[in-house]
Amino acid sequence: MPMTNLVEPAPAKLNLALHVTGRRADGYHLLDSLVCFASIGDEVHLSPGPLSLSIDGPFSEGLASDDDNLCLRAAGLAGAEVAIRLTKNLPVASGIGGGSADAAAVLRGLLRMGHELPADLQRLGADVPVCLASTPARMQGIGEQVTPLPTLPPLYLVLVNPTVALSTPQVFAAMEQHENPALPKIPDFATAKALIQWLRGTRNDLEAPARRLAPVIGEVLAALNATGAGFARMSGSGATCFGIFDTARQAAEAAGILGRHGWWVVATELAQPPAPG
Ligand code: C5P
Repeated sequence: MPMTNLVEPAPAKLNLALHVTGRRADGYHLLDSLVCFASIGDEVHLSPGPLSLSIDGPFSEGLASDDDNLCLRAAGLAGAEVAIRLTKNLPVASGIGGGSADAAAVLRGLLRMGHELPADLQRLGADVPVCLASTPARMQGIGEQVTPLPTLPPLYLVLVNPTVALSTPQVFAAMEQHENPALPKIPDFATAKALIQWLRGTRNDLEAPARRLAPVIGEVLAALNATGAGFARMSGSGATCFGIFDTARQAAEAAGILGRHGWWVVATELAQPPAPG
């Protein structure tokens, strides 16, 4: 029996490492990225059609619910008549999935309602394939090659966005070096410490161009380090940065201090797969 009236979380996507390894003739960039998901995110509510979209939540303002919205385009591509309510908890154009995560949540919900996945879902956005499973993965190609990874160790995170929206195409266009090495071999990480050690040998190749467009990113990273993050980096094309802390309490305390800058700040954790049974 197909399900109706359901809620799908659209977790925030984090690129723990993001190497840009080349550029295709059509201008898209080849990536090699370690991607994971946080326990906070947007939320998508689906109920039987006709096709419509309403948006609420702290970041709904300025987000048009027109045909360009990826949620509507996802439902359209799946040929679904469905009423969508998007609760936008995350800042838009901020390097943590946004539209791709929301579109992937719509597609997951439609699957549960008995619809089929469209074949060309990559058309919706480069991050849609990795957001579909929303579990740790290595993402390659322009985003279409997704290799699931074993569970990562628990991570206590603080996400900070300096309320500057960055355009992904503009950040890619501001890159000076398009051909960088692939990620080093990804081992099974037993501890957060081992993961951080590995991350130190990797980069986000979009961080330098994003910092040229929005120098405040440098201030955010410095502030994360100053509040005790064991590791801090920008996610995606920015401007959201993440810090990794030793404990949930340290993350919460750092979030309290960082919030005084007037930035969007949230303490969260790595999303863990549901316990078996
Ligand atoms: O697919 P998405 O809408 O997220 O991509 C936005 C823009 O980012 C693309 O139009 C392209 O300019 C750039 N991009 C890229 N290489 C990728 C992903 C995105 O150059 N792998």
